[in-house]
Amino acid sequence: MRTDALLSRYGYCSRKEAAAWIKRGRVVLDGAAVTAAKQNVDPARVLVDGAPVPFPYGLYAAYHKPLGCTCSHKDEGPLIYDLLPPEWLRRNPAVNTVGRLDKETGGLILLTDDGAFEHAMTSPRRHVPKEYVFTTECPVPPETVGLFAAGTLLLNGETTPCQPAELELTGECSGRLVLHEGRYHQVRRMLAAAGAPVRTLDRVAIGPLRLADLGLQPGEWCAFDPAVFSPQA
Ligand code: URA
Repeated sequence: MRTDALLSRYGYCSRKEAAAWIKRGRVVLDGAAVTAAKQNVDPARVLVDGAPVPFPYGLYAAYHKPLGCTCSHKDEGPLIYDLLPPEWLRRNPAVNTVGRLDKETGGLILLTDDGAFEHAMTSPRRHVPKEYVFTTECPVPPETVGLFAAGTLLLNGETTPCQPAELELTGECSGRLVLHEGRYHQVRRMLAAAGAPVRTLDRVAIGPLRLADLGLQPGEWCAFDPAVFSPQA
């Protein structure tokens, strides 16, 4: 990759500004300052201002979304991006969430600047299980377990029933639900359809990644290996 392209790709400066960065010796490859914008460099081998390029082969981060922030680049109010390292926001391609969680849903969400990964993970053909824990405003009728498992629940305004989902009731007003698809407000709408509106909702796992194993507190993130989501993993 050209050095000026690298500086802009990883959010250090624009391609136009790159010449000045290079002239000041801010980019070093294998111990020697890069001297030309067109010099090809491996992003994993250069230092910029003495530090390695973060996520040189694509940014893949698991994030514990706190309650009250939105998964958007544009909305008013706290955005999840406000809480992330600011240099991530200057990367090009941009860092996005893989799917979304509602403002009042907490828990695990993935972030990436790899558009192909994001697209593959959100494709309706991908059935990566997503696990949620919830509490409800009133008791969940026990027959809801069978209703969700049957794959016959038709949500308002939809023409295809929800795919079979695994519901485990952990109390009268609490439980765990595993979905294999991602529809708008799906957990809230399914439980409301069963007569038990959601009070609190958290996503605790996406495929093999579990928030508890990652040990992330709200607002914390860690890198993950996208290969854990490849079909042969
Ligand atoms: N289902 C919902 O209702 N909300 C979310 O944020 C995620 C799944």
